[in-house]
Amino acid sequence: CSKMSCGRGALIVLEGVDKAGKTTQCKKLVQALIASGRPAEMMRFPDRTTKIGQLISAYLEKKSNLEDQTVHLLFSANRWELVPEMREKLERGISLVVDRYAFSGVAFTSAKPGFSLEWCMNPDVGLPKPDLVLFLQLHPTAASQRGQFGAERYETSDFQRVVMQRFEHLMKDPSLNWQVIDAAKSIEELHAEIKTHSETAIAMAENQPIGELWK
Ligand code: TMP
Repeated sequence: CSKMSCGRGALIVLEGVDKAGKTTQCKKLVQALIASGRPAEMMRFPDRTTKIGQLISAYLEKKSNLEDQTVHLLFSANRWELVPEMREKLERGISLVVDRYAFSGVAFTSAKPGFSLEWCMNPDVGLPKPDLVLFLQLHPTAASQRGQFGAERYETSDFQRVVMQRFEHLMKDPSLNWQVIDAAKSIEELHAEIKTHSETAIAMAENQPIGELWK
């Protein structure tokens, strides 16, 4: 048992379109949770450090080409390969703050022509279910004012607009604890809001088993 809890840690996911500030907020949240005596660690998907992650990274950097189906399944496999480590940490009482998860997986692939939401969701069915999904909402115009997109695949405003529509569809699922946050706010305001939601989710998760996503 740590100072503040005896139960499992919470799985907290941050999602949003590119430039919404997910990575900054994940880091600040982990620091704040640790400072308040709640063990926490950050993770990110794709995790580019594994063998599968390196295949994904080369694809995103346009150093390799893969079929859309192939890369979709690699993104999912990259989550599944980390599940044992995630479960072990959650059970030790460590909360995980995750930069993107299966929702990005579904939103990005289903934004491509010819992909149904259902096909895209299937490989991720049964992953550890997040106790909280924070969606950093940012209007495409506001996103474009935050500077140019990089050179990676998917970094165009047209594609991101479709991705946003797919996220909006996923957010209608009442079996998940979605919290939509206005990412146009200042970094500190955003952080305060995210921290409050996270503390509630951690308290609620403590005495509950880890759920299964989309099951
Ligand atoms: P990153 O910029 O957060 O490292 O994410 C890399 C890109 O990969 C980003 O454009 C979103 C995309 N992506 C997918 O297409 N499928 C996924 O499952 C994940 C996690 C990310």
